Amino acid sequence: MSVSWALPFNTKIVPKSNKVVDINTYKEIHSMTVRDYKGFWASVASELEWFKPWEKVLDDSNPPFYKWFVGGEINASYLAVDRHAKSWRKNKVAIIWEGEPVDENGNPKEVRKLTYYDLYTEVNRVAYLLRNKYGLKKGDSVAIYLPMIPELPIFMLALARIGVVFTVVFSGFSADALATRIDDAQAKMLITADGGWRRGKIVPLKDIADKALEKVSTVKDVIVVRRTGQKVNMVEGRDKYLDDVLKEVPQGVYVEPERIKSEEPLYILYTSGTTGKPKGIVHDTGGYLTLLHATMRWVFDVKDDDIYWCTADIGWVTGHSYIVFGPLMEGVTEIMYEGALDYPKPDRWVSIIERYGVSVFYTSPTAIRSFMKYGDEWVKAHKTDTIRIMHSVGEPINPEAFEWLWKLIGRGEVPFGSTWWMTETGGIMISHLPGLYLIPLKPGTNGMPLPGIEADVVDDNGNPTKPEERGYLVIKNPWPGMPLTIHRDPERYIKVYWSKFPGMFYAGDYAVKDSDGYFWILGRADEVIKVAGHRLGTYELESAIIEHPAVAEAAVVGVPDPVKGEVPVAFVILKQGVSPNKTLMEDILKTVRDKVGPIATLSSIYFVSKLPKTRSGKIMRRVVKAVITNQPVGDITTLEDEASVEEVKKAYEEFK
Ligand code: PRX
Repeated sequence: MSVSWALPFNTKIVPKSNKVVDINTYKEIHSMTVRDYKGFWASVASELEWFKPWEKVLDDSNPPFYKWFVGGEINASYLAVDRHAKSWRKNKVAIIWEGEPVDENGNPKEVRKLTYYDLYTEVNRVAYLLRNKYGLKKGDSVAIYLPMIPELPIFMLALARIGVVFTVVFSGFSADALATRIDDAQAKMLITADGGWRRGKIVPLKDIADKALEKVSTVKDVIVVRRTGQKVNMVEGRDKYLDDVLKEVPQGVYVEPERIKSEEPLYILYTSGTTGKPKGIVHDTGGYLTLLHATMRWVFDVKDDDIYWCTADIGWVTGHSYIVFGPLMEGVTEIMYEGALDYPKPDRWVSIIERYGVSVFYTSPTAIRSFMKYGDEWVKAHKTDTIRIMHSVGEPINPEAFEWLWKLIGRGEVPFGSTWWMTETGGIMISHLPGLYLIPLKPGTNGMPLPGIEADVVDDNGNPTKPEERGYLVIKNPWPGMPLTIHRDPERYIKVYWSKFPGMFYAGDYAVKDSDGYFWILGRADEVIKVAGHRLGTYELESAIIEHPAVAEAAVVGVPDPVKGEVPVAFVILKQGVSPNKTLMEDILKTVRDKVGPIATLSSIYFVSKLPKTRSGKIMRRVVKAVITNQPVGDITTLEDEASVEEVKKAYEEFK
């Protein structure tokens, strides 16, 4: 029998929890924390172990380049491993990892369990290798292009230990995307693998990395982790297998963690924006770790007997914050997996919940919708009653998806929220808080801003909107975890985030605050699209399309998709004399996949002879999107040629 769902819109659900408070109580507590947000965050930060306490909570003398906990010294690797390895948690399992190849019953062929002591040992050995054998030091930067294997967090923690800034590139990105990021970060070293497993196939990471390395000049050394065992090209003098070089590292080495200044960078993570190449968001150390500590407690309520599972990939910010630094800092036992949640069978994800007794589950709306599509039986075949808290992230969650997971896995009683945040914010900003004060849930909402976070919804003039009125999401106070800057482009940092509404951080999302004060993030207000929760810039896709020799111009927009939330479609003008055909279409699709990566697969291409443009020649994607989603096109007085609107409409309707 299928679960029925029909919760009326705006239903308030009171989950089974001893943390429930009413809305007004939460608002009162919240307003106290934002009134003295510096003092509030200082009290949170004091729960961490600092080598040296800070002298100033917030240096706001040069906005928007805020510095948190100035004068303080800290180390992320020390907090994530040493502290636990020295405590009773020494033999507690930190990471339970399962690889993708599975037997005919769906059981993993490889499982690795690393205790906190194992992690400590490995992180120290790798840190020793990087510092003593490769000579890496504070001020250097390194790129990481690895699949979801334990070596990925181990390298991140080892680099953090010696103060080397790293940039992780998602393994679904192409050689070009990897090269751009290596080049912008000026990485001296690349850490990759011979390959990774995904849906029964090997992703040839080393081959892709080799192509990227042809285009950059900064990388002197490459370390290759053996994962699949297949033969790969190794460049003499540059490339070394990790196991070979680790043989030279004595057992039991200890590398003293660097004393990192709070405001010094921990990592750079590239993310898409409206225009131009991806932005290298630089995160600090002390503020970032403070926000992660707070959110692990408030949002996930982690306890020592929890089995925590965040299903994201470490290549995205969710994985950085809520697989690597957050959970390990809090000493939890967590799950890490390689491959896909629904491969080889649709129930891989529920079998993981059952196999390890997952209690705290963090996933995405796209994942939930794809599970729904397979049907309830796959879920019901497994024991999932260990679950006590769930959250989703990455895109708005539709009430149907909320209700489906909440009833089937959450037994219609556990706290289940949709945490809003972004690469730039470092950690969760708007969420339900099952570990602190929990307001009633509503299917589809994000809840309210966290204590210490002053978020709002404003109109075009920066004034707060009325309840239920759509506006832009902004953050009005600095917060720990905020970016230091955009790498090598501070002007762009000011322009993108701090110029639309002076004094406020502009998130780039549309949002509504309802009459209870709940936030509902509706989606991007700019030209970023979220495909299965992955953030892509339409500009990057268009740049890839026009690299095809037959293409003159292109406009990419996101259109709603029942599973992925949004998918990119392209409207393409071909060069004179070229006529559209199926091969050409496939060829363009391949160009985009090659230039950006498999995550950037266009769902369709429409050939047109005109695109809606302003008189100054700027493509009006807003108009394209409105036309194909049957929305009012709005003000088109600046349009150069109105016939283009009809043409887009016709092309879409004919071929959809
Ligand atoms: O549009 C919002 C959406 O994801 C964007 C940030 O993407 P990214 O930097 O890749 O980080 C994703 C994971 C933190 C936001 O601007 N978004 C993220 N979480 C939610 C969301 N939209 C609605 N509800 C959410 N819970």
